Amino acid sequence: MKNKIVSIVFLLVLILTLWSCHTDPLLQPMPKNTDISFVQPANWPSPHYNFQNNTLTPDGFALGRRLFYDTRLSIDNSISCASCHEQTTAFAQIDHAFSHGVRNQLGTRNSPALFNLAWHTSFFWDGGVNHIENQPIAPIMNPLEMDETLPNVISKLNADPSYRLQFKNTFGSEEINTQRIQKAIVQFMAAIVSNQSKYDQVKNGKATFTADEQAGYILFQQKCNTCHAEPLFTDFSFRNNGLPFSLDSGRAHITGLASDRFKFKVPSLRNLNFTKPYMHNGSIATLSAVLDHYTSGLVQSPTLDPLLQNPITLSATDKSKLIAFLNTLNDYEFVKDVRFKQP
Ligand code: HEC
Ligand code: HEC
Repeated sequence: MKNKIVSIVFLLVLILTLWSCHTDPLLQPMPKNTDISFVQPANWPSPHYNFQNNTLTPDGFALGRRLFYDTRLSIDNSISCASCHEQTTAFAQIDHAFSHGVRNQLGTRNSPALFNLAWHTSFFWDGGVNHIENQPIAPIMNPLEMDETLPNVISKLNADPSYRLQFKNTFGSEEINTQRIQKAIVQFMAAIVSNQSKYDQVKNGKATFTADEQAGYILFQQKCNTCHAEPLFTDFSFRNNGLPFSLDSGRAHITGLASDRFKFKVPSLRNLNFTKPYMHNGSIATLSAVLDHYTSGLVQSPTLDPLLQNPITLSATDKSKLIAFLNTLNDYEFVKDVRFKQP
């Protein structure tokens, strides 16, 4: 009798385990008590995007995360947003100077890291997209990236009842349309905040810089802070920082103005440890080579930034102190934050 009960209990447990493994992992809601609320870090400016008309909710965030990691957004179901924007590398794509899209095609620029996007005033290296909610359709339709059409994406998602349910939970009805796809992806992307670096701890009085880091910070404030402005480490302007000429005209590609040629959006200097290679074309492999560029590699041109008309002067010890400071901007928490992981 006792044996019989034990085996019935065992069987029940087995059935329950198998059943729970069988449920679609993508359908799992956020782990219980996961806080996805958006908090503006102390002493940071107000975000440019504040989820007005797109209220951040656990359902919307989970749907956006699922879409971000779903290869069905590409024509041959091989590439997701995360293929080019990997969490472990601060949502950049490393080891590739240029991004890789469907059919292993090469893009024309380096995949940028994605974090603190709610503060960005424009998107892409040339600012070609001016609102975050319009951004997600660009890679979906780009022939070198996902090369898919929106009607196709919508019908693929519609074929999956679990998606229809998630759209219903998020937006109140099962309808899947472009605007809802965009808003959901933005709920995920714009909620990614990176503010847990050592620099942030120091600013919050929870850590102190070493002597080298502090000396590097002073150098940074003297030589780099105008363009790479604290606390986001960019002023979001477009500037020419004197890289060797390339076919990519940068901001001029959008405005058509000769005065914008070779200007690119100033990138943040947070998380550089994860995001190499550097620059819009991935042309510089290391931080010390970046500093060499500013001290001895600047290429003169009519649009070279006025601040860089003269090379930046840095001794060898200055360079190592500056790199020590830049290394305090790496956020080892957000690259492993479970909220942003593949569901
Ligand atoms: C094939 C690789 C690839 C795929 C797939 C891809 N991206 Fe990107 N992403 C890039 C590249 C390259 C850029 C820079 C483009 C430019 O500047 O012209 C970029 C830029 C961005 C930016 C702007 C960041 C900034 O600092 O301005 C965002 C946001 C973004 N991608 C989100 C997404 C989302 C969401 C998806 C999926 C719908 C996606 N990406 C799919 C390669 C990719
Ligand atoms: C005149 C404005 C300006 C100044 C001053 C400046 N930068 Fe930059 N920086 C830029 C621009 C613009 C880019 C992007 C250029 C591109 O990709 O075409 C950039 C790119 C970078 C990158 C690559 C980041 C990435 O994600 O690809 C690093 C690292 C960097 N700068 C560090 C520094 C440091 C350190 C200093 C001070 C020694 C400095 N910069 C001074 C404008 C500036």
